[in-house]
Amino acid sequence: MTIARPAGVTFRPLGRDHAGPVADRTRVVVEVARVASEYRRLRFEAWPELAGCRPGQFVMLRPLAARLIRRPFTVFDADPDRGQAEVVFRVTGEGTARLAGLRPGDRLSVLGPLGNGFRLDPVRHRAVVVGRGVGMASLHRLARHCLALGMPTRVLISARRPGLWLAADALREAGAEVFAVDDVSGTSRVEIVERLLEPTFARPGSQCFVCGSSRLIRLAARLGARWRVPVQVALEAPMACGIGTCHACPVRPGPETEGHLVCVDGPVFAAGGDLVA
Ligand SMILES: Cc1cc2nc3c(=O)[nH]c(=O)nc-3n(C[C@H](O)[C@H](O)[C@H](O)COP(=O)(O)OP(=O)(O)OC[C@H]3O[C@@H](n4cnc5c(N)ncnc54)[C@H](O)[C@@H]3O)c2cc1C
Ligand code: FES
Repeated sequence: MTIARPAGVTFRPLGRDHAGPVADRTRVVVEVARVASEYRRLRFEAWPELAGCRPGQFVMLRPLAARLIRRPFTVFDADPDRGQAEVVFRVTGEGTARLAGLRPGDRLSVLGPLGNGFRLDPVRHRAVVVGRGVGMASLHRLARHCLALGMPTRVLISARRPGLWLAADALREAGAEVFAVDDVSGTSRVEIVERLLEPTFARPGSQCFVCGSSRLIRLAARLGARWRVPVQVALEAPMACGIGTCHACPVRPGPETEGHLVCVDGPVFAAGGDLVA
């Protein structure tokens, strides 16, 4: 995932979630598996507030044995009945490499649930979900939630190459209309994606959710402004604490405005409608 702070788009906090208390616990790893060719899925024992968190909320994780600060990951999936949660991530450095090296039975330090998740507008009955690369990890539960509510859900998944389309088959099977585009074929070009997305923006009752690419966030904000469709984005920033104390994660909502903190004001923000010139 890239750190997405697209220039020219303003971000507004949606307001704090009061979903449940944040807990700092040691939990056991259930499974680590490779998915969509270059990602890892890490499943671990959760507790009820974590397994029941909102789509878009995240956890801070580190292997208990590692002398590292915890790293942030969106909850990719959660199963309250089995008391388990999953994250999906790409190995980019030491923290993710250590997490990828965990085995079932290893212990994990888990802080969560953190941040503010996506908010569905109950009046709007159609969802457009737009993700690139491992950014789909932040959108997967949201798309499933929309489908479970019976909302027609169009999902656009962009990736460097075919095979990196995270959750494409699962969401298709769950009833989503999935468009998978990639850099190799050139189908991920902004003008092509715009042609795929604009008809949905133009239909009444749409709302849009984006993660993983500054170009796609800018495009969605532009289409949202054109068609008066609300757009929410999940942003990333380097994090140390995840709870608003270290101030490592500011995002500037506009050139003249003091920054919000991605961990406690986001990671999901409202974007667009009021684009910065
Ligand atoms: C709210 C949130 C949710 C995220 N969800 C996911 C997810 O579901 N799947 C996924 O693959 N990645 C996700 N990320 C990004 C993930 O946290 C980083 O890829 C990871 O921290 C990199 O750690 P590293 O030690 O392997 O890499 P390094 O590059 O070695 O990291 C060095 C330092 O920079 C920080 N850092 C580096 N890149 C990022 C980044 N993009 N975002 C935040 N901190 C970074 C690390 O925390 C660490 O402190 C998320 C980030 C945020 C903020
Ligand atoms: S990560 Fe510490 S304030 Fe956001």
